[in-house]
Amino acid sequence: MSSLKEKISKEKLPRHVAIIMDGNGRWAKLQGKNRVYGHQNGVTSVREVTEAAAEIGLEYLTLYAWSTENWKRPKEEVDALMSLLVSTLNNEKKTLLKNNVRLRAIGDLKSLPGKLYEQLLETIHDTAHLTGLTLVLALSYSARWEMVHAVREIARQVSEGKLAPSHIDQITISNNLATAGMPDPELLIRTSGEYRISNFMLYQLAYSELYFSEKMWPDFRKEDFYEAIADFQCRERRFGKISEQIKQH
Ligand code: IPE
Ligand code: IPE
Ligand code: MG
Repeated sequence: MSSLKEKISKEKLPRHVAIIMDGNGRWAKLQGKNRVYGHQNGVTSVREVTEAAAEIGLEYLTLYAWSTENWKRPKEEVDALMSLLVSTLNNEKKTLLKNNVRLRAIGDLKSLPGKLYEQLLETIHDTAHLTGLTLVLALSYSARWEMVHAVREIARQVSEGKLAPSHIDQITISNNLATAGMPDPELLIRTSGEYRISNFMLYQLAYSELYFSEKMWPDFRKEDFYEAIADFQCRERRFGKISEQIKQH
C-alpha cells in the first residue's frame, strides 16, 4: 500500500504543526487498564509523529503534553506522568540526536518537578545545535498563563520607561509569548474526538486550520499524521479575503 506521504506536496508544507494529544486515559480504560498505561503507550505515538514530521521536513512540531489545569488530576497520575516524562527524555535523546531534532519547551517550566526540569534543560542544551525539526513540548502550559506572563512583562518594560504604550503592537505581543521567534501553527490537530481548544495557544491559533481525529492518541500513527497534512493541503486559506483574490497568486 502506498503511503500518504507521497501525496504531500513539499511546496505547500505548513511550517508549524501543533497537536493536542488527547485520549490516553480513555484508550487505557477501554482495555480495562489504568490511565497511566495509556500515557505509556502514548510515547510510541510521540516517537512516530516526531519521526514523520522530521521525514517530511517540517520546521516546527509542538506537542501539548501537560496543561496548567492537568495539575488538578489525582496525585498518582501526576506523579506517574512526570516520571514517564523524565524516562522518555532520557531514552529518546539519542533518537533526537540521530534525527537532527532540536528540543524546545514552552510553559511554566519552573513548576515542574526538579528532576524533570533538569532533564529538560539538559536535553534542550544538548540538542540546541541541531538544524532539523524543532520539537516543542508544551509542559505546564496554558494560553491564559502565557498571556498573563506576557502582559506582566510588557507592563514591566512600560513602567521602566523602555516601551511607550503607543508602540505596543501585535509583534510586541508575539515577542512576549512563550512561542517568541516561532511561526504560528498553520495546522492544529486534536485527537480523541474532542472538539475544543482546552486553553492552548489562543493567540497563535488565530488563523490555524483545525483538524480533528477520532483516534485516541496511543493509536495515532505516521499515516494519520500524513493524512492530516494532506487534508490541510486541500484547504483554501483566505485570511479574510475572498476566494478569487487568493487564486490570483
Ligand atoms: C491526554 O490524554 C494526555 C494528557 C492530558 C496528559 P488524557 O489523559 O487527557 O486522556 P483522556 O482524555 O482522559 O482520555
Ligand atoms: C488537553 O487535554 C491538555 C493536553 C493534551 C495536555 P485535556 O484532556 O486536559 O483537556 P480537557 O480537560 O478534556 O479539555
Ligand atoms: Mg483528555
